[in-house]
Amino acid sequence: MSEAPTIVRTTIDQLGQHVGQTVCLQGWLYDKTAKGKLQFLKLRDGTGIVQAVVFKGSVPDGSWQAAEGLTQESSCTVAGEVKADARAPGGFELSVTAVEAIHIAPEYPISPKEHGVDFLMGNRHLWLRSRRQHAILRIRAAIVRAMRDWMDTHGFTLIDAPILTPAACEGTSTLFETDYFGDKAYLTQSGQLYMEAAAMAFGRVYSFGPTFRAEKSKTRRHLTEFWMLEPEMAFVELDESLRIQEEFVSHVVQTLLARNHDDLVEIGRDLTKLANVKPPFPRLTYDEAVKVLQAEGSEIQWGMDFGGADETILANRYDRPVFVTHYPVECKAFYMKRDPERPEVVQCADLLAPEGYGEIIGGSQREDDLDALVSRMQENGLPPEGYEWYLDLRRYGSVPHSGFGIGLERTVAWICGLEHVRETAPFPRMLTRIYP
Ligand code: 4AD
Ligand code: MG
Repeated sequence: MSEAPTIVRTTIDQLGQHVGQTVCLQGWLYDKTAKGKLQFLKLRDGTGIVQAVVFKGSVPDGSWQAAEGLTQESSCTVAGEVKADARAPGGFELSVTAVEAIHIAPEYPISPKEHGVDFLMGNRHLWLRSRRQHAILRIRAAIVRAMRDWMDTHGFTLIDAPILTPAACEGTSTLFETDYFGDKAYLTQSGQLYMEAAAMAFGRVYSFGPTFRAEKSKTRRHLTEFWMLEPEMAFVELDESLRIQEEFVSHVVQTLLARNHDDLVEIGRDLTKLANVKPPFPRLTYDEAVKVLQAEGSEIQWGMDFGGADETILANRYDRPVFVTHYPVECKAFYMKRDPERPEVVQCADLLAPEGYGEIIGGSQREDDLDALVSRMQENGLPPEGYEWYLDLRRYGSVPHSGFGIGLERTVAWICGLEHVRETAPFPRMLTRIYP
């Protein structure tokens, strides 16, 4: 008894394994052109795009008609022989033997013509299918993987921080409040305080999750919901933390250049700008930064926080990210440790990305003395009751410790070279957008 040959079902990224064989692909029609007895279907399946050539003489009539009926974004099953073709994008082409429509789409709202950003953001659920958006989100996934790989192989344990929290970490003005069975609760601004508890239990830890800020700022760097990776390290002081940060960030950038070269080229990134991202990163104190900015004509006075334009001026002086350290106490959060030699500044550092992407990391050594911490909380108007558990960390075996938070979307915007962070999130949440 002879068996009917079964056709292997595969995906576009695997076509190289099947040259000379007949395979079956399932996907959506990206684009189509026709010329006499030939139809050229551009098919996408989420792993890539391939050209499928339908020759009228080589397919049953039903398949020819099915191909004719496919509109942009219609779904279909296509069988054909895999041919290696150096001129084809991806290096392969499909010589079609059969076509079957799964679902015929009505006129698709996103056409190859130019659309405004508002229109595209309103159709974000469909826009994700376009080549550029697809490449950006592949890069985002690869950045997450590189970040986690580095942490997982450098002695850090992943500890998840809660999303619903009873108190603020980064100031009370950007809290999203919610009702928690009659009590007030807030969406987390940062997992840091919980990571400090975890560091006292595990030594080196990190959290990675969504964080929320009710930011009233409508800038190209702000989202109301963003992802942050937050390492926290016991027995580590500021200087060692900065060395860890520069190793970590360099690893992420160099891994992306090696593994996602084609994606970065697809979106038009100037790769020479990323090649230099290797340790050591330059360091500048806040005092030095203020002098530089004043010399460049900025209005900044000692004690003021930097604006986006100030950060860009500072970052443009270097070919890799730059640390700005030792900000005035008033500019920074309550948990940062004062410099014992200069109590008007804290032992902190922001990492500014090159090319105007601004602050991608905020970090510091933490105040480990109970009394000093309590008085910082009072100065900031934070009720100690909400933080008793956090103060316990300074009561039971307090140690010097440091940590930092790296914002995923700003890191993706920088590595991709994007104008605005909104394209780095699959469904970005902003001051004026929560749909779709
Ligand atoms: O400087 P931030 O506010 O630091 C913290 O939250 C610390 N608790 C982190 C820590 O030490 N564990 O935020 C850290 C980073 C920023 O450098 C930026 O990359 C990102 O989070 N970030 C935002 N990204 C997008 N939209 C916003 N509204 C952001 N706010 C902060
Ligand atoms: Mg910050």
